[in-house]
Amino acid sequence: MSKKVITMNPARIDINLNPTIPALPKVADKTKINVRYTLIAPYVSVHIYWDKKQGELMYKVEEPFLNEEEKKLLQIIETNLGEMINVNVLVQKTTESMIEYIDKTSRLLISELDLEISEDTYKRVFYYLFRDFVGLNEIEPLIRDYFIEDIECNGVDTPVYLVHRVYRNMKTNINYKNIDKLASFVEKLAQRTGKYVSYASPLLDGSLPDGSRVNATYTKDITSHGPTFTIRKFTKIPWTPIQLLDMKTLSPEMLAYFWILLEHKANILIAGGTASGKTTLLNAIAFFIPPESRVVSIEDTRELNLPRENWLPSVARTALGVGKVGEVDLFSLLKNSFRQNPDYVIVGEVRGKEAFVLFQGMASGHSSISTMHADSVDTLVKRLETPPIELSPTLMNTLDCVAIMTHAVVEKQETRKLREVVEVVNVDSKGTAMTNTPFVWNAREDAFYFKKDSKVFEKLATKYGLTIEELNLEFDRRAKLLYELQKRGIHGFDQAQQIINQYHKNPVEVLASFGLSSEGEEEVVQQQYAQQPIDQTQQVQQPQMGQQPAQQPTNQQQVPFGQQAPQGMGQQPDQGQQIGQPQQDGFQQPTG
Ligand SMILES: Nc1ncnc2c1ncn2[C@@H]1O[C@H](COP(=O)(O)OP(=O)(O)OP(=O)(O)O)[C@@H](O)[C@H]1O
Ligand SMILES: [Mg+2]
Repeated sequence: MSKKVITMNPARIDINLNPTIPALPKVADKTKINVRYTLIAPYVSVHIYWDKKQGELMYKVEEPFLNEEEKKLLQIIETNLGEMINVNVLVQKTTESMIEYIDKTSRLLISELDLEISEDTYKRVFYYLFRDFVGLNEIEPLIRDYFIEDIECNGVDTPVYLVHRVYRNMKTNINYKNIDKLASFVEKLAQRTGKYVSYASPLLDGSLPDGSRVNATYTKDITSHGPTFTIRKFTKIPWTPIQLLDMKTLSPEMLAYFWILLEHKANILIAGGTASGKTTLLNAIAFFIPPESRVVSIEDTRELNLPRENWLPSVARTALGVGKVGEVDLFSLLKNSFRQNPDYVIVGEVRGKEAFVLFQGMASGHSSISTMHADSVDTLVKRLETPPIELSPTLMNTLDCVAIMTHAVVEKQETRKLREVVEVVNVDSKGTAMTNTPFVWNAREDAFYFKKDSKVFEKLATKYGLTIEELNLEFDRRAKLLYELQKRGIHGFDQAQQIINQYHKNPVEVLASFGLSSEGEEEVVQQQYAQQPIDQTQQVQQPQMGQQPAQQPTNQQQVPFGQQAPQGMGQQPDQGQQIGQPQQDGFQQPTG
C-alpha cells in the first residue's frame, strides 16, 4: 500500500468548525468538574478539570498528536505554503473556500516535493495548516468554543486565561514562549481587524470578522513580558430578548416595559460594571424599536448587531500616526448623526464629552439608548456631572430610565441580572435625583418583582394622550406574549424579530395566534397578582438609591415573577442547537 496521499481527486477534507454544543453539567463543587467536549471535529477537544496539583481549574486543549517526523513534515509544508499563498487574498475568502484552497495547495506541494505521507498523517498535519493559515493559531480552538466569553494573554511565559460561560475563570495549557512569535501573532490580530500596530502606535482596539472585540499591546519589552491581548467574544447572532429570559437575566415584565418605552421614544441608559452584560441587553431591547424607524448607531468598536434594515451604523476611527489626522471621534460622529434626523440614536458606550451631545439630542426629541459604566444611579449621576462630561443636572431630566446590570452568583453559578430599573423622576439643579424603582431583582429568592406605578408611563400618557390604564393593559399583553414565546421555545433571532415586528402591525392577530386574547384581560391579570402570597411581596427590599418620589403611589404591591427557573442556557442562536435541559414547565402563565 502506498503511503502517498492522493493528490488529484481528494475527498473533501472533513473538518467541522461548528460541532454540536453539549449540555454542560453545572457543578457546584469546582473540584469535581471533569468534562470533555469537541471544539473542532474530529480533531480538537477540550478537557476541563480540577488540577489537584495547582489547586485550580484547567482548560486543556487537546490537539492531534504529531511525532517528531510528522512535525518536520508540517514545518516543511508550512514554510513552502507560506511562500506560495497570498495571505491577503486568503482573508477575503469564506472559511470553506480557504479550507479547500489550503487542502488543494498542500496536496500539490506534497506531490511536488515528493514527500512520503499517509492520508492519516496528512489529516492531522492538515489540522495545523488550517489552524495557522486560516485560523488564529494556538487560540483557534478557543475561538471556536461557544462557551468562552473572554480570552486573555498577559505576555510570554504565562498561561493564557479565559472566562467560561459555565465554569468561569480558568487557566489554559496555552503558553507563548517566544516574544517574537507573540508579537507576530498580535500583528496577525491587527491584520484580521483591518488595523495596524507598530512600535510607534502599539495599542490595538478593533473587531475581528466574527464580531469579537480585540484589545492588544505591541511591545517587545522583556520586563513587561512582551505583547498582550484580550479577546471579548460575541455570539455571531446576538441574543434575543427571549434568550435573555431563558437565562433568567430579566423578566418578561421588564422586557414589556422596555418595549412600551421604546415604542414611545423614551430614553434609556443601561448601566453596570465591566462585562455585566450592558451591550448585550442594549442589543436585545433594540428588537423593540419599531421596524420602520430610522436608527443611527455610534460606537468605538463595532459590537452592535441590530435586527433591522433601517439602520445606519457608524464606528469611530482613531488617527493613524501623529497629529490626529483622520480621527473621527464619538463626539463628531454623534453631532453629525443628529443631522441625519434619526428616530433613535444608539451609542454603544458613553464615556466622555459625547454624553453632552447625546443629552442635547434627547432634549431635542431624538430617542436614545446607550450604555455607561456605573453600578448605581448615584454613581451615574456623579459621573455625568463631573469632568470630562460636566452635564448640567437639569439636562439629565431628559433621561427616562436607567437599567442596572450586574454579575450575580446564584446557586454558586455566575449569572448576569438586570438588578433594577430606576426611573428618573426629577434631578434638581443641585444634582439630587428623585427616582422611582418599578422593577427589582431579589437576590435571595432569585425572583424579579415589579410594581405598577411607572412614572415614565405617566409621562408617556400625558405626552401621547393615552391613559395609564391603556398603557398598563398593553404592558400586560406584551408581558404575556413574551412569557408565551419563552414557554414555547420561540427564541431564535428571525422568529423573535418576525413576531415582534408583526405585533407592531397587527397586535390582535399575533395575540390570537398564541391563544392570548386582547380584550377583558384586566380582571384575569389582577386576579393573578392577587394570588401571589403576601409575605413574598413584603420581603422585597426597596433599593436605597436616590430618593423615592414624594408621593407614594397607592398601588404599591410588588409582584413576583414566575417561580420556575428554566434549565440550561437556551439555544445558541446561530446554530439552533439545544444546550442544557429542554425546559419542562417553563414560566408560570399569567393567566394561570
Ligand atoms: N445576560 C447574560 N447572561 C450570560 N452571559 C451574558 C449575558 N449578557 C452578556 N453576557 C456575556 O458576558 C460578556 C460581556 O457582555 P457585554 O459585552 O454585553 O458586557 P458589557 O457590560 O457591555 O461589557 P463592557 O463593560 O466591556 O462594555 C459576553 O461574553 C456576553 O456573551
Ligand atoms: Mg459594552
